[in-house]
Amino acid sequence: AANQQWGGRFAAGPAEIMGRINASIGFDQRLWRQDIAGSKAHAAMLGTQGIIEPADVSAITAGLDAIAAEIEAGRFSFDEALEDIHMNVEARLSAAIGDAGRRLHTARSRNDQVATDFRLWVRDAIDALDAQVVGLMVALATRAAEYAATPMPGFTHLQTAQPVTFGHHLLAYVEMLSRDRGRLRDARARLNELPLGSAALAGTSFPIDRHAVAAALGFDRPTANSLDAVSDRDFALEYLSALSILAVHLSRLAEEIVIWCSQPYHFIRLSDAYTTGSSIMPQKRNPDAAELARAKSGRITGALVGLLMVIKGLPLAYAKDMQEDKQPVFDATDAAGLALAAMEGMVRDLVADAAAMRAASGSGYATATDLADWLVRVLKLPFRDAHHVTGQIVALAERQGVDLAGLELAAMQSVEPRITAAVFDVLTVEASVASRTSYGGTAPGNVAAQAAGWLQRLEIS
Ligand code: ARG
Repeated sequence: AANQQWGGRFAAGPAEIMGRINASIGFDQRLWRQDIAGSKAHAAMLGTQGIIEPADVSAITAGLDAIAAEIEAGRFSFDEALEDIHMNVEARLSAAIGDAGRRLHTARSRNDQVATDFRLWVRDAIDALDAQVVGLMVALATRAAEYAATPMPGFTHLQTAQPVTFGHHLLAYVEMLSRDRGRLRDARARLNELPLGSAALAGTSFPIDRHAVAAALGFDRPTANSLDAVSDRDFALEYLSALSILAVHLSRLAEEIVIWCSQPYHFIRLSDAYTTGSSIMPQKRNPDAAELARAKSGRITGALVGLLMVIKGLPLAYAKDMQEDKQPVFDATDAAGLALAAMEGMVRDLVADAAAMRAASGSGYATATDLADWLVRVLKLPFRDAHHVTGQIVALAERQGVDLAGLELAAMQSVEPRITAAVFDVLTVEASVASRTSYGGTAPGNVAAQAAGWLQRLEIS
């Protein structure tokens, strides 16, 4: 049978495979709330503008509410022959209320309809993810306050560099996540324009009021160019870009968690709730959640690149390629939601092994820079000379198989005779971190203040 929405032009129905490649209902049914909200706002405006009768508006509104209840309750049967969510809802409405339902599509097209629904969906997704990012930031800042004075090795090249505190390290991720929130906020602000009323591509001859519909749906304004409105997907690309950067941050933290809980490091212990066992090796506690969070970032970035490739060659305005915009966005959103929730749980539960971190932070001559700084401060050596002298002392310690604090004063004096016993005060990891009081540095007082500041700001955001 010919299609009930455009059958006038057609004698025959689609091939079975045509129906299958064409249908998006399998995934775009996730737009149902947005589709119904958009249709209600559109119908109300058509009524206000005198384009349809008030009685039709009432019937449409009640009919759409009933459909929403059916879908909510899982009683709605989605039909692949009706292609997508828009036509499933509209067909059900017309079946329920007759002609009024058949007037709903006046002055609109599925092209502006889907662009509107999708923007609404992405906007909701941003709001939900933002709340989750805040949750993870609060977890990190809470733990950072707890570990503000707990020394751990700071690395460059994954080689021991200088001692930092665990709290300082955790707060680095809070900073990254805060910028991720900013990017999501920017994306939200830019996407918040209403496409509906652009119709298929050229606008409409009906006296519609797009500003009223924009206000009803919480958009800042209607889009200004009908061709752009139905064919742009940069709101989705921008969202996926922001999500990809966020996911890369989660992936780096996940990678560090994997390293930290490995036996050679044992800087942290994950809770049972966020580890898995092995079916053969009884001793195992594997950080699967962190590994999966790391993997999700590949998937999310894949979604971004996939959608960029779908959009890149499309002439204006709408082309059916654009129907393939939703799966990557849905998949990336689900992946990010899972990764954020898992990371938050892991961070809340993890326990630092302060003794192991302390031991590791004292090894590898991590306080060599403190020795060089002492030579500059006390002996007034130029930093380059101090660096050279310290290098010779480290080499000496290495030959003797001791750390810097374990060297005899006489041994140090064999390199630089003016060194005094006072130097040993700066060679402990505690002294090292305590001395890093420059703004943004790792001194425990700084870290505690930063953590407290974050927690206060996050509470009110
Ligand atoms: N299911 C379609 C999509 O997701 C709706 C728009 C269809 N428009 C069209 N001209 N065929 O993009």
